[in-house]
Amino acid sequence: MEGLSMTSSPPQSLEDRVRSIVAEHRDDRGALLPILHAVMEDMGHVDPAAIPILADELNLSRADVYGVITFYHDFRQTPPGRKTVRICRAEACQAVGAAQLADNAKERLGVGFGETTPDGSVTLEQVFCLGNCATGPSVQVDGRLYGRVSPAQLDGMLEVGA
Ligand code: FES
Repeated sequence: MEGLSMTSSPPQSLEDRVRSIVAEHRDDRGALLPILHAVMEDMGHVDPAAIPILADELNLSRADVYGVITFYHDFRQTPPGRKTVRICRAEACQAVGAAQLADNAKERLGVGFGETTPDGSVTLEQVFCLGNCATGPSVQVDGRLYGRVSPAQLDGMLEVGA
């Protein structure tokens, strides 16, 4: 950092935030996973720029860190949209129309699961059980759970600003 002595780093640079999260969780069992969850909670995604920092802090290879991030679908590498819509794809919801909801959402948004619309408005995700099996199909919008969701209701949920 000596070479940058004329300009000081902002106090909350990505590197500072990641190193501070690592410091909080370094002693957790299997530290990488809790750290990645904490990074997701703090930043909404795991920025690829965090990978070398995590590797350095945890004495892992970048490939190790990258492998874990890509293995677990919970970890996204791009910022989420302004709204996150998660459709349950587990068995009970599949039996009552989740597949149609999923197809409708993909077609309407023009994105697949794990993707965000180009305007950054909506991120579409699939989940496997939201604990609401008796009243499926279940959809979660920005953390709020909805049951017995009809295609028309889902259309409303996909509206920006709705
Ligand atoms: S199967 Fe969809 S909420 Fe459990």
